[in-house]
Amino acid sequence: MVLAKDLSHLLSDEANTRVPSPLKTCIKYFNDPNVIFLGGGLPMSKYFPWFDITGTSPLPPFANGVGAPSSEQDLINLKIPRDNIDVLEDEEFGTISLDKALQYGFSQGHPQLTSFFKEHNKIIHKMDKYEDHDVIATIGNTWNLESTLRCLCNKGDYVLVEEFAFSSTLTAVKAQGIKTCPIPMDADGIIPEKLDELLANWDEDKLGKIKLLIIVATGSNPKGLSLPVERRQKIYDLACKYDFIIAEDEPYYFLQTGQYFKPEERPALTNEKIDHDEFVGGLVKSFLSLDSEGRVLRFDSLSKIMGPNTRIGWITGQKNLLTHLFRFHEVSIQSPSGFSQAIVAKTLNSWGQAGYLDWLIGIGKEYKTKRDFCIDSLYKHIPKRLLDSKTVVINPPIAGMFFTIDIKSENHPEFESKFQRNGKLVEQHIYETVIKQGVLMVPGSWFETADCTIADRGGVEEPKKEIFFRGTYAAVDLEKLDQGIQRFAKVLDSEFS
Ligand SMILES: Cc1ncc(COP(=O)(O)O)c(C=O)c1O
Repeated sequence: MVLAKDLSHLLSDEANTRVPSPLKTCIKYFNDPNVIFLGGGLPMSKYFPWFDITGTSPLPPFANGVGAPSSEQDLINLKIPRDNIDVLEDEEFGTISLDKALQYGFSQGHPQLTSFFKEHNKIIHKMDKYEDHDVIATIGNTWNLESTLRCLCNKGDYVLVEEFAFSSTLTAVKAQGIKTCPIPMDADGIIPEKLDELLANWDEDKLGKIKLLIIVATGSNPKGLSLPVERRQKIYDLACKYDFIIAEDEPYYFLQTGQYFKPEERPALTNEKIDHDEFVGGLVKSFLSLDSEGRVLRFDSLSKIMGPNTRIGWITGQKNLLTHLFRFHEVSIQSPSGFSQAIVAKTLNSWGQAGYLDWLIGIGKEYKTKRDFCIDSLYKHIPKRLLDSKTVVINPPIAGMFFTIDIKSENHPEFESKFQRNGKLVEQHIYETVIKQGVLMVPGSWFETADCTIADRGGVEEPKKEIFFRGTYAAVDLEKLDQGIQRFAKVLDSEFS
């Protein structure tokens, strides 16, 4: 079996300077019965003011759907006791007693949780191309990015990003003094040939080495695009050729809703149970599953599949790089909340890997229904004349929770007279008008990668005429969704009349 490539030359100055916190190196003796531990500020667990935690959760296979009320679900009782002594017979169910969960000492995440994620990784990503990979539990993908940037990039470095990227990612990058270099995209996501061209012409002496690509490859935010596997392979090969790390930020990976079909062509949704192998085989291959050199850091998060404020996520990658991330965590977040780890570990281990797949299948089904409803509603409410003239183009996503609407701003009757031929001004105007009508859609320019643009490279950039808005079908029920889309369509109707 192969080991990951040594990529320590890609670490940041900060990561190279950081040494393990000495206090953390002796924590392992806390659980050694032969050592009386007088070494660290660990309060005794009898001073933790909770005796146990109990709860209920639905029981797989969630036959009535993952969104069904508890009265229609079979339920399991979750009980988390205070003392580890009470869970010894129960360990297979992933119980982390409160004396452990709420104590210091498991900065990588409790093994009951991380071992579940490792097993899950094997099922989904195979993980058979190199040996020394691992998982660390974290507080979600926002943090996973922050930590990765800190450990790989120095101020002034450039990172590769999608031409339209998650705005919080762009903000986080900027705040660290790192610059973004956008990669052009089409309807399938970033274009490998453009990336190759960009890197082949990159002036490393002047601009520094590119060490990182940040990508939301499945259900991208804002565009809702998904990279086909052929592109993933080409981009991975470029990462090997040009020696950079791929950070795949994948909170939407399991919301793969497939192609949109108009209602009359749509295969009926059946209640038949989807076979697990078929489900796993139908998922687009991750970068992680293609990784033979250990140059992918995969960010997973429970935010979109179990609850954003569980604040549980994990990073998978080669051990050496994870050690540097983890050392940073030891002196920053330490670990996800013990309550959260205990409840999530208990739930997942009670469901088992098969039950978790049932949950993911169920969540995917819900989003497919919502995606279909949303796109149907857009076609129903947006005037046909605007669609026929391509003044408005609906982009049905194949994954994630976002849809986008492209608008040809130059078709606005006041494009010249009021908006000085500037699409951005039309965008702002539509944004404000739509809010007045009681609905919020997000302007596409909020996601635009602003550094290293044509203008930065000495070219002349025309003000953009193509604008787009991003909406989500995740946040509201179907009735509200339809109402919101109707209001949005009404604004477009009157603005472009
Ligand atoms: C692309 C992307 N990454 C990360 C996040 C945040 O994830 P988390 O809640 O795990 O921090 C989001 C949330 O909207 C997102 O769209």
